[in-house]
Amino acid sequence: MKYKTQQIAWLFFATSMLLFALQLVYGFIMAFAHMGYDTLHPWIPFNAARAVHTNLLVMWLLSGFMGAAYYIIPEEVEREIVAPKLAVVQWAAFVIVGVIAIIGFHFGWWEGRKFLEIPRPLDWLVVVDVLTFVGIIGVTIWKGNRPTTTAIALYLGLVLAAVLYLPGMIHFKSQVLDSFYRWWVVHLWVEGVWELVMGGILSFLLIKLTGVDREILEKWLYVIVGFTFLSGILGTGHHYYYIGAPRIWLIVGGVFSALEPLAFLGMAMYGIAMARKGGRQHPNKNALLWTLGCCIMSFTGAGFLGFAHTLPQVNMYTHGTLVTAMHGHMAFWGAYGMLVFALIAYAMPELTGRARHKGKMAEWAFWMTTIGMVAMTGAFAVAGVAQVYMERMTGLDFLDVQDALQVHFFGLVLAATLFTTGFALYVVDFVKYGLPRSGGAPRTTTNGSADDVVVAVGARAAEG
Ligand code: HEM
Ligand code: HEM
Ligand SMILES: [Fe+2]
Repeated sequence: MKYKTQQIAWLFFATSMLLFALQLVYGFIMAFAHMGYDTLHPWIPFNAARAVHTNLLVMWLLSGFMGAAYYIIPEEVEREIVAPKLAVVQWAAFVIVGVIAIIGFHFGWWEGRKFLEIPRPLDWLVVVDVLTFVGIIGVTIWKGNRPTTTAIALYLGLVLAAVLYLPGMIHFKSQVLDSFYRWWVVHLWVEGVWELVMGGILSFLLIKLTGVDREILEKWLYVIVGFTFLSGILGTGHHYYYIGAPRIWLIVGGVFSALEPLAFLGMAMYGIAMARKGGRQHPNKNALLWTLGCCIMSFTGAGFLGFAHTLPQVNMYTHGTLVTAMHGHMAFWGAYGMLVFALIAYAMPELTGRARHKGKMAEWAFWMTTIGMVAMTGAFAVAGVAQVYMERMTGLDFLDVQDALQVHFFGLVLAATLFTTGFALYVVDFVKYGLPRSGGAPRTTTNGSADDVVVAVGARAAEG
């Protein structure tokens, strides 16, 4: 670790791991409910479990992105984070607001709009917290010695994500308008500004891991980002087909969203080409594995499986079914989950000075989660296609169809178990790395020995 304040990132990474573990618990609760074993229903009804599952997802990814910024920005702009104590407060506030929101969902305190369920008073606290974060990172870049394209792409993505949270906070009486602007948040995040964050993090990782010239990598970053916005902004129309918005969106949404996979294909080709071109043999092979995995799985989940239901002729039948869940899982995991995991895999040896990445555990974690997620996607796909056929084409009753689908959720649970075991290995590895400590290049250990000097992150951060 080159800069002491980079260790603030560890707090966010550890938070990500915890929240993700909890997200998976709620995934299992829902999967069992789908199988007919809904014993927790009186305490955690399906809708509450779903809101917790998806909001925890957004929270742990945002926590990962913030950690990524605290880790990457000092190295890119070559200076310490400007207000490390405030950064620790910002982290604590983020956790507190998140925990209150999640507890609230269990008591029906929410707004009931998918992904944006957080109640309004808490929304304002989120705004304050995110503004603080954006301020700290912004001033750091401003005062830094080197505002690189990578740093700017990452920062711009985070700032725009914060700005785009606001349309979701406007109150509308009309359901159509409410839905219309909800998509500005949900779609323009994952198919717009988060891709900037992804571009920034990927380019940082590729610069470090492959040794390809920054100039070359950053030139391609412009092309990918340009294409993302060209297709992604009007691509929002693929959510406007049948919600009461004007008919023009059928053609606009269809055409532009059909182009979106090209941005993800570009990202995948970018990663693979740079890894091949680069001459550097970086010792952290696991980080490269996760980086390339992210490039490929995001294209498959977001690009390929997104395209599968983006045309209005198809979406007319698949809208809001398990086909959406099939795509949602692989896209979110492939693009953003694996991105955060790649960065953590890269950062942990640097933060802790322990080169544990030479062990096999992290590799197993990668393959078990990857195969597990492919299998989960398959289970959702089979259930989804069957649902579309029975419910939408032959007109069977929704609940009768749900009964008929129960069997497919055995498959989902099996696949999810494999995925979760892989994740557990990743967490064991994360814990074995221990706490961050300054000084020294990563050295190889297999067990992250306890005699290492352990440093309280808050205290260290305060020194900076
Ligand atoms: C990493 C990028 C992406 C992520 C994380 C993602 C995730 C999701 C999620 C979670 C949903 C459900 C949202 C909701 O109903 O509230 C959704 C819906 C949808 N996505 Fe994506 N997506 C991504 C990229 C794409 C791309 C590139 C396409 C098109 C090529 C696409 C096409 C669609 C369509 C058509 C729907 C609506 C499904 C419906 O009508 O029920 N997605 N996506
Ligand atoms: C233990 C593993 C998991 C299980 C068993 C699981 C199960 C489920 C189930 C049953 C649903 C509800 C589908 C419905 O509405 O009927 C769901 C929704 C969702 N899950 Fe998971 N999940 C798991 C892990 C994940 C992971 C790793 C991610 C992303 C990184 C994720 C993202 C989502 C999203 C975005 C939705 C909403 C999809 C939509 O809008 O259609 N889940 N999950
Ligand atoms: Fe979309």
